Amino acid sequence: MKKKDVTRRKFMKTAASVAAVAALPAAKAMADTASSSGAANPVRYGFIGSGTQGCTLLGFLATIPQGRCVVNCDIYPPNLKKGVETIGSNPDTSEDYRQVLDRKDVEAILIATPLYLHAKMIIDGLEAGKHVFVEKSMFFKEEEAEQVRKAAAAHPKQVLQVGLHRRASVLYQIAIEMVRKGALGKVMRVESRVTTHGTWRRPVADAKYERLINWRMYREYSGGLMAEMGSHFIDIANWVFEAEPVSVIGTGGIDYWKDGRETGDNVQAVFDYGAGRRHYFNSMLFNGHRSSGVMIMGDEGTLDVTDSRGIYFREPKAKVTTGSAKETWWAGATVSKAATQKGIPIFPEKEDPNSGFVDREIGYAKRWLASMGIYTPEEPFDPYWGELVSFFASIRDGKPVVAPLEVGVADAMGVIRANQAIDIANGAPVPTKTT
Ligand SMILES: NC(=O)c1ccc[n+]([C@@H]2O[C@H](COP(=O)([O-])OP(=O)(O)OC[C@H]3O[C@@H](n4cnc5c(N)ncnc54)[C@H](O)[C@@H]3O)[C@@H](O)[C@H]2O)c1
Repeated sequence: MKKKDVTRRKFMKTAASVAAVAALPAAKAMADTASSSGAANPVRYGFIGSGTQGCTLLGFLATIPQGRCVVNCDIYPPNLKKGVETIGSNPDTSEDYRQVLDRKDVEAILIATPLYLHAKMIIDGLEAGKHVFVEKSMFFKEEEAEQVRKAAAAHPKQVLQVGLHRRASVLYQIAIEMVRKGALGKVMRVESRVTTHGTWRRPVADAKYERLINWRMYREYSGGLMAEMGSHFIDIANWVFEAEPVSVIGTGGIDYWKDGRETGDNVQAVFDYGAGRRHYFNSMLFNGHRSSGVMIMGDEGTLDVTDSRGIYFREPKAKVTTGSAKETWWAGATVSKAATQKGIPIFPEKEDPNSGFVDREIGYAKRWLASMGIYTPEEPFDPYWGELVSFFASIRDGKPVVAPLEVGVADAMGVIRANQAIDIANGAPVPTKTT
């Protein structure tokens, strides 16, 4: 057998391990759920907090017949109105979420309020007998972990789901399966980022609403970039490593936008999972190059995932030098080397018909992946839509909760610990109480 043939065979073997992981059971389950009988008996819910994210969710909810919004609640009248318009089904309105909880016709609540309100609203919702969907992070303060756990344990029949929507993403589910099936080899590193060049401030028409509208800038209400952005990828790393960090170091500050804000505009953290496994997270507001995404890195491959696509890169075998002899896994296979260095799209963009030789090589790999049931040109559904459909299916059909209590707790605690680490780096005393 020629050297090149051996290399190609190994290349295809790797591709096979990629393909084998992706029969897309999650996509199928979600499609089944969407067409299930739930629409005949929709879950009646109250929506709390129809601001930016609330209206994003309401936009998706408007397309989901398995749920019906009977009341929308917000304390800021323009957003209350916007929420009603977005859902479009003429719900009742309220400016007090306790009125929502008092209603017997409300089976579930969906919470998209500022972070500092989450734990109280979750607990009140569960105690009022409602199923609860809450945006990430699940809670704000360390002590709230036990309070939320206790309330959930006292109401085991009620669904509690956290809005970590990547858990409902087929792209991310494939990524995790690739990790589990060994397609990336020994995974030791996750690198993630959410960066932008912008103030993060929202315009405020009336100064009395400054803290309500720009709550993310104030430490009384917000965990800053770590909570708003980091929480997504803290959860991805927990998912990849099937563990929680054992320690975290952090750095950060208000380094660029010196406009009176209290939360940092430039934060980094390294989460240590033991055995050399680490997650590096970076978020900053002065540069938006490669704005958001995550790389999952093992000794046999890297998966570079952004919100719309994932690219798999085969990692060449370690170069081992003994005396003057050098050996690389890739010796003698220039074409496949080029193709795999360019990466194999898991959810690729459209192919260019005028593509060159290397692109055509990648095209063959894609078709081969497709024949194994992995290739699909895009996410079969938006993960926001997926998490909401799944929430209703968990309530009506008992389907597993896509991002349940402990996923939310681990994620929120990761945020809290990272912010503590940043504070300590900036001179704050080390907290003595740990959960
Ligand atoms: N999953 C995601 O991708 C994603 C994206 C953005 C935001 N979020 C999360 O969604 C939540 C809200 O963020 P946002 O950017 O939409 O904030 P926002 O300020 O735009 O919206 C919050 C809304 O809650 C309302 N509100 C405040 N106090 C209230 C109360 N006591 N009762 C009822 N309503 C109240 C506000 O008036 C506002 O309309 C946060 O937890 C955030 O982390 C998630």
